[in-house]
Amino acid sequence: MKKITIALDGFSSTGKSTLAKELAAHLGYVYVDTGAMYRAVTLFAMHEGIIDAAHFDVEKLIQSLPDVRLEFVFNPSLGFAEMFLNGQNVERQIRTLEVSNKVSLIAEISEVRAKLVQQQQEMGEQKGIVMDGRDIGTVVFPNAELKIFMTASAQTRAQRRFDELVAKGDDVTFEDVLKNVEERDYIDTHRDDSPLVKAADALLLDNSNMTKVEQFERVLALAQSHILA
Ligand code: DC
Repeated sequence: MKKITIALDGFSSTGKSTLAKELAAHLGYVYVDTGAMYRAVTLFAMHEGIIDAAHFDVEKLIQSLPDVRLEFVFNPSLGFAEMFLNGQNVERQIRTLEVSNKVSLIAEISEVRAKLVQQQQEMGEQKGIVMDGRDIGTVVFPNAELKIFMTASAQTRAQRRFDELVAKGDDVTFEDVLKNVEERDYIDTHRDDSPLVKAADALLLDNSNMTKVEQFERVLALAQSHILA
């Protein structure tokens, strides 16, 4: 059967990764969470003292990029691939609010984007892939057969992210999570290189008032119509 490329872009905490994982599992496709890659570079920069609350050494980050090795390793018990940074599983560490607070600054750097985009394009060479991020339909796979741009209100998205972090035992306040969502929206949509923008041929999906099942069925039907076309 024909394989296609599915690009899911949109604002933070719109449920892109949940939808992407479900679609990939259903279609037998590879799922790639590109946000995890930007988060892992951020963690690297934090460990190396390249970025902290007070300073960010952009030049050192650019020079250190050859030392950043990112891999997705499939975890059969979870049913999806986990992010490994230089051989270490960092899946848990990259999801903290501390990393979320710095990741948009790292994602603004063109050299970082060029390295990650190249790796993402290599992963998608064979098609049969669902990739989520901010620039997948515009930059990484401008010829993807199916492009979805996901959005929901900032309050709805912050509530989802807050519930997730609390369930993991993180000590966060709703106000801090909302502030982070709004700040990342601003930086992601205003950066010079590959800003978050809906591709002209992407379908807009506002899921503020949609259940996960409704959303999944709608996008799956679209994917199947492209696969059978
Ligand atoms: O999807 P996420 O929230 O885990 O992504 C974290 C950050 O990474 C997001 O705020 C912006 C950046 N990002 C990006 O610039 N381009 C992508 N393709 C994916 C993520």
